[in-house]
Order: sequence, then C-alpha cells, then structure tokens
Amino acid sequence: MSRLTITRRWLVNNLGVISAMLFAVVISGILLVRSYYYSSAKQYLTSRMNMVSSILQRSYNDPSTSFSSEVRSVAVNWSEKDKTEIMVVGDKENITLTSSGFVPAENIDSMTDYTQAVSNGANGYYIGKMSTGEHIMAVCVLLPENDSGYSAIRLVSSLESVDRHISAISLALAVICLAVLLMMMLSGLYFVKSIVIPVRQIGSTARRYAMGDFSVRITKKNDDEIGELCDIVNHMASELALSEAMKNEFISSVSHELRTPLTAIKGWAETIGSMPEDAETVTKGMRVIGSESERLSQMVEELLDFSRMQNGRFSLDKTTMDILAELGDAVLIYTEKAKREGIEVIYNEPDMLPFVYGDKNRIRQVFINVIDNAIKYSDKGGTVTVQALMADAETIQINISDTGCGISQQDLPKVKTKFYKANHTRRGSGIGLAVADEIITMHGGSLDISSEYGKGTTVTIKIPIQKN
Ligand SMILES: Nc1ncnc2c1ncn2[C@@H]1O[C@H](COP(=O)(O)OP(=O)(O)OP(=O)(O)O)[C@@H](O)[C@H]1O
Ligand SMILES: [Mg+2]
Repeated sequence: MSRLTITRRWLVNNLGVISAMLFAVVISGILLVRSYYYSSAKQYLTSRMNMVSSILQRSYNDPSTSFSSEVRSVAVNWSEKDKTEIMVVGDKENITLTSSGFVPAENIDSMTDYTQAVSNGANGYYIGKMSTGEHIMAVCVLLPENDSGYSAIRLVSSLESVDRHISAISLALAVICLAVLLMMMLSGLYFVKSIVIPVRQIGSTARRYAMGDFSVRITKKNDDEIGELCDIVNHMASELALSEAMKNEFISSVSHELRTPLTAIKGWAETIGSMPEDAETVTKGMRVIGSESERLSQMVEELLDFSRMQNGRFSLDKTTMDILAELGDAVLIYTEKAKREGIEVIYNEPDMLPFVYGDKNRIRQVFINVIDNAIKYSDKGGTVTVQALMADAETIQINISDTGCGISQQDLPKVKTKFYKANHTRRGSGIGLAVADEIITMHGGSLDISSEYGKGTTVTIKIPIQKN
C-alpha cells in the first residue's frame, strides 16, 4: 500500500512537473527553430526582391528601354530558379508570366501577399498554400504604373525543404526530451525503490516483533539513513528480546524464590501436625515457619516496592536520620549469616557522621540489598568489608567491598537494570540493585559499582548530608 502511495506521490510531484517543463521546452524549441528558419527565408526573399525592384525601377526611369521587355527579361533570365520563382501578376489579378515558364492558375485567395501590397500600395508578404497545395512563402511588390499590362511582381519560394528541416529538428528535440524523461524516470524509480523496499521490509519485520517474534533481523544494504534505521530497529529487537528473556527469567526466579520458603513452611506445618506432642519439634518448626514467613513477606515487600517504582507511586518517608544506625543494623543482620557461610564481615564503625534527611527504612533496605549481594556472590573464606566515611564536607560515602566472584566488564553497566542477572548460579530476582539505585537517586545520592571479574566487587554509595 505505502509503496504505491510514495511512488504515486513521486510520479505526480516530481515527474509531473518535469514532464510539463520538458513539454514547454520542446514547444518553445520548435517555435524558435520555426521562427528562425522562416525569418531567414523571409530575409533572403526580401533581399532578392529588393534587387529585382531596383533593376526594374532603373528601367522604368530610363525612357530608352522598354519596361515590359525588362520585366519579361528579369523573369525569364532569373538566375535562382532552383530556389525561388518570379511570378508576374497581370492587370486582371492573374499570373501572366513566371521564371519557370509554367503559368499557374493561381486564385486571388492564395495571393495574400498581392492583396496586401495592393491595399498598402507598396508590398506584401504571405506564408501559406498555393492552389496546388504546396507550402510557400511569397513577397510581392507593386510595379510602378505602366502600360505593359503587368501590375506586380511576386517572389515565391517553396517551404517544403525548410519544413522538412524544421520537422527533423523538432523530432530530434522531442526524442532527446523523451530520452531525458525516461532516464529521469528510471533513476527516480530506482531511488524510490531503494527507499520503499527497505521501508516495507522494516514494516513487515516490525509486525513480526509486534507478534513477539524477535528472531528476525533486517539486512542493512547501504550506509545511509535507511541503513541507520535498520541498525536502530535491529538494536531495538535485540533489546526487546533481552528484556523479554529477562522478564521470563524474572518470573521463573521469583516463583522459585517464593516456592522455597513455602515448601519449608508447608513441610514444617505437616510435621507439627503429625506430632503435636513433640515440644522440641514444634518449637523448631515454629521458628522455621516464623523466619521463612518473614523472608516471604520481605520478598513480597521488595516486589511491591519495585512495582510501585515502575508505576511512579514509590514515595519516601523522610526524617532526620543517623545513617550509621541503619548501616550498623544491616551489618548486624548479616554477620551471623555470613559466619555460617564461612565469610568474614569487617566493619569498623566510625564514631559519628552528620545526619542525613532521608527514609531510614529505605536506606537500611539499600544496605541490606548490597550486603546481601556481597555475601551471596562470595564463597567460603571470603571477606566483606564495610566502611563509612566523609567523601567531602557535604557527602557521606559508604563502601561495601567483597572478595567474591566479581562482575565481567560487559555485564557491569547492566547490573543496575531491572531483572538483569549476570550470575545465574545464585538465586535472586535481579531487582535488588535496581531498587537500591532508585532509592539512593531519590535521596540525591549515587550508587556506583566497580568490579573485577574473579577478584571482587566494591559498591560505593554516596548520600548528601542534611543541610542547615
Ligand atoms: N557483590 C557482587 N558480586 C558479584 N556480582 C554481583 C554483586 N552484586 C550484584 N552482582 C550481579 O548483579 C546482578 C544484579 O544484582 P541484583 O541485586 O539486582 O539482583 P540479584 O541479587 O540477582 O537478585 P535480588 O537482589 O533481586 O534478589 C546479580 O545477579 C549479580 O550477577
Ligand atoms: Mg541482590
């Protein structure tokens, strides 16, 4: 559909105007050539006629010569018989004598030059047809009054060969213009096709993307704007495919994460149900059920936060707060867990840092997320170091470093993206850092990650202190 529209628009807008212009050029060219040839012919006839007139005038003025015999002699001895013909008009407005010897029965209608000369008393000019149908040009001069029976002299030239020339030139002009038009049409169609075909291809590929098939890519043919569009669309498809894959991965990890505590809760509930009299089992079971429920509700909270962030309904409950208290809490929560996994957490708490205006629960949530990652992505024997210091007079800086698996250079820029997981060997939904980064940004701070693959990772959080 679009191909027809663009091509048609191009045909009408571009080719239409050019055709009209070329048509005008051809017509004006033909008129110009015609007028040039005819005016040269007229000039020639007029000059010959002037010559004849002056000879006859001389004879008219000379009483020793016979005017009528001079007229006859001029006609009979006319030297340019091959090009022009002299016709002498008699008193009765008929041709009485010609240089060719053949006297045509010319009627007065085909002698406009003569009637013109009679009406203005001097000379006349005519382009038209003789009674025989031949296309001619004629000039006519009235003879001075005399008694020879001759009233005027016409000089007639056939235009047949001039017309043939004009037709040949006109034809050549038209052929050249047609060839130009054809070439323009071909090059234009090629150009339009070079746009329309890739655009259709992009359109049909985009339709497949819309239906969820991201496997196809557009082949880029040229390094121009269309090529750039192909690159952009291909890139968009890769990103969509990645985000689709991440979303699926997210759903499966979240389901997995939710199922694990649920399995534990269900298992312990059944165990307690089957031996309610065993106080030790009941106590242990209740403890596990309690802690697993806590883990579940934390996960659901995190998912809800994430969803609120996506909808723009995530808000902070800001108060003046001591950042060290929240950091201390987060470290404390994880120290035991780390010890169980054979990981050492080192934290030398500074005496005091300036207050921050922020949401203490959210800030603690950030520390928990980051420390959780540091432990999760470290192996037995690893160390997690937590530091809190002043980056400058107005900014608090928290560094959380580990000696874990690290993040490769190509994954590093993406780990803060939602659902993105660089490491699929550990459990996780891939939203912890996205949420943490959003919370810190909402506090006017920054969360940066530096890492060396296989060596360890450092997360640097900067938060501005409370002013005034
Ligand atoms: N300290 C770290 N060491 C190595 N890799 C890390 C570290 N922190 C984050 N990552 C990488 O960044 C990815 C994203 O981290 P993020 O905290 O957002 O998700 P997650 O830990 O996989 O899941 P969640 O935190 O939502 O349970 C992780 O999957 C992991 O590959
Ligand atoms: Mg995490």
